[in-house]
Amino acid sequence: MFRKLAPYIKKYKVYAMLSPIMMVLEVASDIVIPMLMAKIVDVGIAGGDGQYVIKMGLLMIGLALFGGIMGTWSSHIGATAGFGTAAEIRKAAYASIQGYSFANIDKLSAPSLITRLTTDAELVGQVTMMSLRMAIRAPFLMIFALIMALYMNARLALIFLGAIPVLALALVVILRKAVPLFKLMQEKIDRVNAVVQEQLAGIRVVKSFNRQKESKDAFMERNRDLRDTAIRAINLIVALMPVMFLVVYICILFVLWFGGKMVMVGTMGSGDLIAFITYISQIMMALMMLSMYFMMYTRASASTNRLIEVIETKSEIKERTNPVKEVKDGSVAFENVNFKYPGYRENILEDINLLFEGGQTIGIIGSTGSSKSTLVQMIPRLYDVAEGSVKVGGVDVRDYDMTVLRDAIGFVLQNNTLISGTIRSNMQWGDEHVTDEEIIRALKQTQAWEFVSQYEDGLDHRVEQGGNNFSGGQKQRLTIARALIKQPKILILDDSTSAVDMATDAKLRHSFRTELKGITTIIIAQRVASIRDADQIIVMEEGKVDALGTHEELLEKSEVYREIYDSQQKGLAVS
Ligand SMILES: Nc1ncnc2c1ncn2[C@@H]1O[C@H](COP(=O)(O)OP(=O)(O)OP(=O)(O)O)[C@@H](O)[C@H]1O
Ligand SMILES: [Mg+2]
Repeated sequence: MFRKLAPYIKKYKVYAMLSPIMMVLEVASDIVIPMLMAKIVDVGIAGGDGQYVIKMGLLMIGLALFGGIMGTWSSHIGATAGFGTAAEIRKAAYASIQGYSFANIDKLSAPSLITRLTTDAELVGQVTMMSLRMAIRAPFLMIFALIMALYMNARLALIFLGAIPVLALALVVILRKAVPLFKLMQEKIDRVNAVVQEQLAGIRVVKSFNRQKESKDAFMERNRDLRDTAIRAINLIVALMPVMFLVVYICILFVLWFGGKMVMVGTMGSGDLIAFITYISQIMMALMMLSMYFMMYTRASASTNRLIEVIETKSEIKERTNPVKEVKDGSVAFENVNFKYPGYRENILEDINLLFEGGQTIGIIGSTGSSKSTLVQMIPRLYDVAEGSVKVGGVDVRDYDMTVLRDAIGFVLQNNTLISGTIRSNMQWGDEHVTDEEIIRALKQTQAWEFVSQYEDGLDHRVEQGGNNFSGGQKQRLTIARALIKQPKILILDDSTSAVDMATDAKLRHSFRTELKGITTIIIAQRVASIRDADQIIVMEEGKVDALGTHEELLEKSEVYREIYDSQQKGLAVS
């Protein structure tokens, strides 16, 4: 585990080394104190030497203070190193996620990523801290206490020298059983988190379908499962306690029995006996600490692996070594493109050949699930083609510098959302240095200004998480404006006007036609009206291009197109 963590601990190297040193000093004072105590009793009090008692007493206080300071200091440094390491590893994981492709996110899933970056990272930090303290303190305390005991009275020390293997055995037997349970527990936590996150993110859906009960049941089932596993694990650990106490008390009994005899015949001081008992309890404490530590360690090593997986997952979308740094124009070409989603067998796009000239308006239409969204996601390389190639400005998209390519493309995803902040901060996603005039111009172009201008605080109007304080149509217009602010060469609108009314849709189309000259505009739409003026309309059907042409041409030659058109005309006639 620590080999894997090494790069993240590096920054706290000095802390990580200082903390154990101080720890050892603290242990040393813990060990010497009982011995001084024994001396006070056996030499000072027994001999009636007041001076000696005061001298040793002061030394004891001094040592206790020293031990306390070292202990506090080492805790402080240990915590800094532990939680610092957690922060470092979290940072690395977060940075890695930023480079993920859509396929990576499909695979690791957002809820699991969140659990890993929070719960798992927290545990790793805690155990790193414990490793610097407990894992060092316990063995040292044990070894020193043993040495002292042997030194004071070797024969008596044999008693707990005999007990230690028994304790160690109990520890091993129980941990063997507990470790797999703790690993299991981590997985169950993941399952609970997954259901909580999914149900909360979809709380509006859950409520509108009256699925609260089912949602609660799904949660309860996993919650119960986690509880049961946790109880099983804890029960095992709890079983460890009585065993330990039993052995330790038997030990103390023997020590008192034999030690008592020794004190009576005068071969041992009563102070020594007290110190002896103190050492026994220190050894027991150390064993407790070690078992706690092992438990946490096994949980944390599972967490470490989960975090390392996040960090080491690299986007399969790689950049070339000598990427093209400029997008010449907004033309787009699909050449013999085939595509399937990673992990799925069937082709989602098949044999696609298309050419969009720079500045053209392209309409894409087709039944739901006909791969329209998938098709356009190939252009900014959200996914890579399986076969064939997609070219932008005459260059294969895989040959571009990714940032350059994506800067040239304004993409409004089908389920795009706004990010919490203000309207202005959302618009700045398109361009950090955009001025208010430019924002307002984009808002006007997308018919969003008509409602934004009514807000008293205008561009400073608050946007809640996911843009939930806007209507569907308002959100769509804002997301289009955000894409326009990038001043892209290609603008892709995936079903982006589905929620705006017909009249606004018509105004939007008019402003696109007049204001977006020179920008290749690709519009995916459900309504024929949204695309009928396009230079080229593509009809998709089951992952293939069914037909392409202008509105009039398609009415002539495409049955699918005619069907869509007719059904919508009828719909209009009825309403
Ligand atoms: N991330 C994904 N992983 C696996 N399969 C996917 C993924 N996204 C879409 N699909 C599948 O690919 C097919 C095409 O989906 P796509 O979203 O491209 O359709 P669409 O034409 O945009 O539909 P709609 O009009 O409903 O938006 C569907 O069968 C869908 O199940
Ligand atoms: Mg779609």
